[in-house]
Amino acid sequence: MLFKELQTDRLLLKNISSDDREFIFSQFSDNVVNRYLFDAEPLINVQGADNIIEFYLQPEPRLQHRWVLVRKEDGIRIGTCGFHCWNMNDNTCDVGYDLKEIYWGKGYMAEAMETIISFAYEQMNLKKINACIYVDNGRSIKLAEKLGFKFNGETQMVSFRGKVYEHKIFTLDLGIL
Ligand SMILES: CC(C)(COP(=O)(O)OP(=O)(O)OC[C@H]1O[C@@H](n2cnc3c(N)ncnc32)[C@H](O)[C@@H]1OP(=O)(O)O)[C@@H](O)C(=O)NCCC(=O)NCCS
Repeated sequence: MLFKELQTDRLLLKNISSDDREFIFSQFSDNVVNRYLFDAEPLINVQGADNIIEFYLQPEPRLQHRWVLVRKEDGIRIGTCGFHCWNMNDNTCDVGYDLKEIYWGKGYMAEAMETIISFAYEQMNLKKINACIYVDNGRSIKLAEKLGFKFNGETQMVSFRGKVYEHKIFTLDLGIL
């Protein structure tokens, strides 16, 4: 099994499982968390959470993985992060991350991301990680840049509910770490 649980100073990065359905529902039905996520409608029931969990629990080898961020001090689930669209031919992958708003501004996601980036380098042999970020999602852009991601010049137009949203692709080049 490639994908395993990870730890940081303050967090346990546990593999997503069916135990997380209530949390995943609460996270992806939340308007604040969803504000700049234009790839899916907010969840309206726990069946939607089950579908997400099932996607991330397909048997390995699979092209996606999601960790749930659990705070060590109290066992509270505070967010998720992970990989999708792993291209094993060119060793690239997309990353995604989300925290409940009350946990923003405390460095939790930077801490989690540093750990999964090391995992990507050492265990997945990734050369590049891409983050597709809506242009107004300032917190996400700041986080990505702090981690060493750079705007690679590519933009992507994402259509959602009849509107088009411009995203920028930020790339972390693991070859120059
Ligand atoms: C994107 C998102 C995860 C960023 O969260 P965040 O809290 O800003 O990021 P971090 O957890 O890395 O925290 C960094 C902040 O914590 C502060 N901080 C506090 N203590 C810290 C510590 N010990 N270490 C590092 N940073 C610390 C930093 O100064 C920074 O604050 P600032 O932005 O006010 O300057 C969050 O906004 C989110 O979940 N958004 C909704 C979902 C989303 O849009 N996801 C991305 C889609 S592309």
